[in-house]
Amino acid sequence: MDITFLLNGESVELRNVPPTVTLLDWLRDERGLTGTKEGCNEGDCGACSVIVTDQGGARTLNACILFMPQLHGKAVRTVEGVSGPDGTLHPVQQAMIDHHGSQCGFCTPGFITSMACAHLNGDHGYDDALAGNLCRCTGYAPIIRAAHSAANQPVPDWMDDAASVPATVDAVQCLPRSSDELAAWYSANPDATLIGGATDVGLWVTKHLRDLEKVAFLHRCTDLQTITDTPDGTRIGAGCTMTQVHEWATARHPSYAEMIRRYGSRQVRNAATIGGNIANGSPIGDNPPALIALGATLHLRHGDTRREMPIEDFFVEYGKQDRAPGEFVEAVTIPDQPDRLKVYKLSKRFDQDISAVCGAFNLSVENGIVTAARIAFGGMAGTPKRAKTAEAALIGNPWNAESVAAAQAAIETDYTPLSDMRASARYRLGAARAMVLRAWHEDSGAPLSVLEVTP
Ligand SMILES: Cc1cc2nc3c(=O)[nH]c(=O)nc-3n(C[C@H](O)[C@H](O)[C@H](O)COP(=O)(O)OP(=O)(O)OC[C@H]3O[C@@H](n4cnc5c(N)ncnc54)[C@H](O)[C@@H]3O)c2cc1C
Ligand code: FES
Ligand code: FES
Repeated sequence: MDITFLLNGESVELRNVPPTVTLLDWLRDERGLTGTKEGCNEGDCGACSVIVTDQGGARTLNACILFMPQLHGKAVRTVEGVSGPDGTLHPVQQAMIDHHGSQCGFCTPGFITSMACAHLNGDHGYDDALAGNLCRCTGYAPIIRAAHSAANQPVPDWMDDAASVPATVDAVQCLPRSSDELAAWYSANPDATLIGGATDVGLWVTKHLRDLEKVAFLHRCTDLQTITDTPDGTRIGAGCTMTQVHEWATARHPSYAEMIRRYGSRQVRNAATIGGNIANGSPIGDNPPALIALGATLHLRHGDTRREMPIEDFFVEYGKQDRAPGEFVEAVTIPDQPDRLKVYKLSKRFDQDISAVCGAFNLSVENGIVTAARIAFGGMAGTPKRAKTAEAALIGNPWNAESVAAAQAAIETDYTPLSDMRASARYRLGAARAMVLRAWHEDSGAPLSVLEVTP
């Protein structure tokens, strides 16, 4: 595959690039740019963070799970390009020195690129911007202090990649530019692997050492990356990143947005797509419980044929989804409704961790009576699944402690969870029951988050 992109302001043209070479390997092995570090090689530590700029702006991504074709037509800035061409330090670099933000230094290049990207975007939310960068020896206080102290300094002119990114780039094999091109190609090549953000597929290559012979990247299908209001509700294209979905949910369903804030890290959310999270069929994917509770419709496409279904019907059993060879996820539509959604993500670590259990509750209560209920959990079965017995225990009954107790008991009928490294079956059942109680307390206005509890 032939690709062109900007690397630290200079044009790079590559011929015959294997499609699953990662940017991290290429930078270190082919370019000798060893400032970008390999820590986990699975998107978890942020030591490999780089800044990628395209028409949509600048964002941080993890180079270890970023395939080279994903860069075609974009600009990449590594830690080597964060300081000026004459060696002048970027304000965040100077601030890290001044505030003693580095000890062993292994994590530091990743912090510097994340801080420089936040600085470029005028983003002062450092807890979120740096949640995907792990430091094991300095401690976060000096790093956050450094970020704050550099915040009001001007952005160095060498950081402006947006002006140099081409508006259009040549078509390249494996990079369809629209859902029509993708549909035609995929129906003729149903054995191919689709790649959205590569936050799952990247690990198949870096951790499972799989050779993916035939692939198609979806990130140039811009018509799959839009969020639009339709008569049936909000249609979210399969190629929308979790950063886009977060922005939409912040206004419409804040509890969903709060869950997404803890979905991977900023780097992961900037790459991960909602379509990839649905299509992978994972029982612990975080979007499906919320989408099921919201009554979302899934849109699938095969060639010129489209079909749709309630999203819960897509998940047939563990590892099996209702998707034919050559068929892809095109979009999901969430019906317009007053916001009643509550989403609870339970993971061992607060930030950047996969859920042990994720529960979503969408209840209507009129005059104290539950008139409608859609409840769904991830992590409780081989698929994301509705809690139909618990819903039935609530509908038509008063929203009170007795009904909550009945719904809690029904959870054991709805689910037979497994034990694994994230949680035991007993813990999962207990956690899901507690979430039912939590939803009731939250409706009565009780403070629930440990972050809200003050001495
Ligand atoms: C560090 C880290 C943290 C993570 N944290 C979370 C988390 O908190 N919560 C969570 O739910 N997930 C998490 N994930 C998993 C992953 O980020 C999500 O599942 C993500 O949304 C997958 O989207 P993607 O675009 O990267 O998928 P990809 O890796 O590109 O693809 C995933 C699968 O979907 C297929 N696919 C992609 N797009 C389509 C489409 N449009 N139609 C049909 N098939 C398609 C691919 O062929 C592949 O089988 C994490 C991953 C990492 C690496
Ligand atoms: S090496 Fe850890 S996120 Fe890339
Ligand atoms: S300075 Fe050592 S890991 Fe951060």
